[in-house]
Amino acid sequence: MRAAKAVIPAAGLATRFLPATKAVPKELLPVVDRPVLQYIVEEAASAGINDILLVTGRGKTSMIDHFDRRPDLEARLEEKGDLDRLEAVRRPGELAEIFACRQGEPLGLGHAVSVGQSHVGDEPFVVMLGDEFMDEDSPLLPAMLDLQAATGGIVLAFIEVPTELVSRYGIASVAPATDVPADLAAEHEIVRVTGLVEKPPVDQAPSNLAVVGRYVLPATIFDAIRRTGPGSGGEIQLTDAMATLLAEGTPVHGVVFRGVRYDTGTPAGYLEAVVELACKRPDVGPTFRRWLVDFVDKDLRG
Ligand code: G1P
Repeated sequence: MRAAKAVIPAAGLATRFLPATKAVPKELLPVVDRPVLQYIVEEAASAGINDILLVTGRGKTSMIDHFDRRPDLEARLEEKGDLDRLEAVRRPGELAEIFACRQGEPLGLGHAVSVGQSHVGDEPFVVMLGDEFMDEDSPLLPAMLDLQAATGGIVLAFIEVPTELVSRYGIASVAPATDVPADLAAEHEIVRVTGLVEKPPVDQAPSNLAVVGRYVLPATIFDAIRRTGPGSGGEIQLTDAMATLLAEGTPVHGVVFRGVRYDTGTPAGYLEAVVELACKRPDVGPTFRRWLVDFVDKDLRG
C-alpha cells in the first residue's frame, strides 16, 4: 500500500531568522511570491499526497490560514477582474486537505512526528521537513513512495555532503541494494542502509551520505519513538528511532538524490533559493536575470 498522508513538523522557533520570525513563522517566509510551506505542499500534491498534517506550535496559526479560503479577498479580486491573482489566492486551498495539531514542547524531531500518530493511523506515511524542498523538475518523492510500497520498510533520501558538514546531518552506512524491484533500481540510485547515526563527529561518520528531509515510514515508527530516549542535543531523534527499527529487522533503503534541493533553513540557503527560483520564473525571471548579471558585474567585480 502506497503512503497517502504526510506529516510536516513545523513547530520550531526559527531562531536563525530572528527578528523576521518573531511574529511570522519561518515556513511562511516568501520565496518570490509563495511561502516556503506552499512549495512543500505542492511537492506533496504532485506526488499524490493530498492529506497533510502540520505539526505546529504557539504563534504559528497563520500557516493554517494560508491554506484556508479568503472569500473577502477573492470577491475583491473577482470584481476587479484580476483573475491571475484570484487563481493564485485560491491555489493553496486546492492543493491538499490540511490538518493541524500541536507539539506542546520542542522535544525533538522524533517527538514532533509522534504527535501525528492518531491522524496517521496504521498506514505508512511521509515526513517532510518544513524548511527544504526539491525542485519540481527533479522530483524525489514518487520514487521513494514506490520503493516503500515495494519493501514495506523505511525509505530515506540521501545527498552526498562534504566531510566537514557530516555533523549537521543524520548519516548512514550503506551497502548495495540487491532486494529492490528491477525497474526502480534501473532508474534510481538505491542503497540498502546498514547503520544510521544522528549528527556524528566528523571523525566518526560512517560515510558522507546525509539524510535529507523526506522520509517514508511504516507506522511501526511510532512505537519505536516511544522507546527512544533523548539523543543528540538532548532531543528525541527520529534517526535514533529509525536505527532501532533497522536493528530489529525493518528493511531500510535510501535513494541518492542528485537533483536540485533548496534548503531554506539558514539565511544563506534561503537567499540562494530566492535567487534561483526568481531566475527560473517565466514572469519575473528574464528581467531579474539581466539585473543580476549587471549587479554582479558592476557592484561585485568592479
Ligand atoms: C534533521 C534530522 C537530520 C537530517 C536533517 C536534514 O536535523 O534530524 O537527521 O539530516 O534534518 O535537514 P535538523 O536539521 O532538524 O537539525
